[in-house]
Amino acid sequence: MSIKEAMSRFTTGVTVVTTHFDGQDWGMTCNSFNTVSLEPAMVLWSIRKQANSHRAFTQSGSYLVNVLQADQTATALRFASGPQHERFAQQVSERSAHHNIKLQGSVAWFECRLAQVVSAGDHDILIGEVVGHGCQNGWGLAYANHQFGVHSAFQN
Ligand SMILES: Cc1cc2nc3c(=O)[nH]c(=O)nc-3n(C[C@H](O)[C@H](O)[C@H](O)COP(=O)(O)O)c2cc1C
Repeated sequence: MSIKEAMSRFTTGVTVVTTHFDGQDWGMTCNSFNTVSLEPAMVLWSIRKQANSHRAFTQSGSYLVNVLQADQTATALRFASGPQHERFAQQVSERSAHHNIKLQGSVAWFECRLAQVVSAGDHDILIGEVVGHGCQNGWGLAYANHQFGVHSAFQN
């Protein structure tokens, strides 16, 4: 069993992280997002160093994490490949205070100032200070074993 297979057994949520750089919007599906600190509020995610959008996310100074809702599998797939402009086409959204795209239907969002970039092997860890956030009722999309799913068995 490969290390990738073992890692895939860890169930995560699914996000689309966006930024605005060089006059265009950038977005990618990401399941490495995690919360880090409450005071000050900080979060992190990691980006593959070879990603086309790596420069945009490390140079723009801010990013916005959209936590996808359980019914947003199509959005997760759309933001995982293809040209950037096609990822945002047909997507209902609004622009945040820092000009990043906020996707309609997300169960939560966190807008961050990029605070630190930590190199870790073939990825960079992007640590952000949360400068804005919001959420609505609902459940997030889950991801495990390379499959999307819903949290259907949460206990009280
Ligand atoms: C469920 C899922 C989670 C992903 N999580 C990450 C991640 O945390 N970091 C990352 O760099 N890529 C992640 N990817 C892959 C990127 O979405 C994909 O490589 C990226 O959109 C490629 O675009 P780009 O090279 O044009 O930037 C994930 C893909 C999927 C389907």
